[in-house]
Amino acid sequence: MAKIIISAFLCLAMFGSLAQAAAGACREANGTAPVSGSCDAYIECKNGVAEEKLCPDGLLYNEKSTGYPCGYPIDVECAQGQSRLQSAQPTDECPHQFGYYRMGDASHCGQFMNCASGRGFVFDCPEGLAWNPATYKCDWPDQVEDCDAEAFLGFRCPALAPKSDLLGEQEEDYTFHPSPDNCQVYFICIEGRPRRIGCGEDQAFNQELKQCDDIDNVPNCSSDIRAKGAEIKAARASAAAGRRKQN
Ligand SMILES: *[C@@H]1O[C@H](CO)[C@@H](O)[C@H](O)[C@H]1NC(C)=O
Ligand SMILES: *[C@@H]1O[C@H](CO)[C@@H](O)[C@H](O)[C@H]1NC(C)=O
Repeated sequence: MAKIIISAFLCLAMFGSLAQAAAGACREANGTAPVSGSCDAYIECKNGVAEEKLCPDGLLYNEKSTGYPCGYPIDVECAQGQSRLQSAQPTDECPHQFGYYRMGDASHCGQFMNCASGRGFVFDCPEGLAWNPATYKCDWPDQVEDCDAEAFLGFRCPALAPKSDLLGEQEEDYTFHPSPDNCQVYFICIEGRPRRIGCGEDQAFNQELKQCDDIDNVPNCSSDIRAKGAEIKAARASAAAGRRKQN
């Protein structure tokens, strides 16, 4: 009997001290708090009762969030020195249950995948842009680490002319180049790395102006492309005339 009482007493004492520790971890009666040394564990407090929880695989605890306490790594500052993380739970499609991941190699940087509960959804950046894992945005390929902009865009920037400091000439930072196979596209080379600019369907690159221009002013386009551009312009004009009539 005494044994039972003692163990019950011990149990109560242990439970009491645990509850106390948990309550100590709560800064507010309802809310969350970080777990020291971990980036994806956190303490959730409900009415002052603390419970340790884990963010889904791929997400990190975001102390600053006022809603759901877990976020994508890019949105979370986890300054824990030797941060522990749960082990990854990869699937056939995804390296983690949640997250955004670039697909392809250095010459195919325009695709990314969003993983949700281990299922991967693939997205394409707009043409000419590369997925930037540092910003979670589609970006100029020359701004994306590990993206070979020339290989990705299929355009090699010509070698820069040597500087002529003697003449006090300003070296051009940008150079403009027509696409060799599409009159409606041009490339800007910035420090030897290209960016692709599309002019849209009713415009084309005017090499003399170094910018997109009305397709009528660019005789270099094939007759097909010029006809298509004229069609679009005519359709636009008649739509505008229709609107004027209505008003
Ligand atoms: C905490 O949440 C509970 C349940 O939602 C609520 O009844 C209680 O008043 C809250 N406490 C505080 C201090 O906000
Ligand atoms: C048409 O092409 C020629 C040869 O590449 C170039 O010199 C000229 O500037 C181009 N014209 C326009 C309007 O882009």
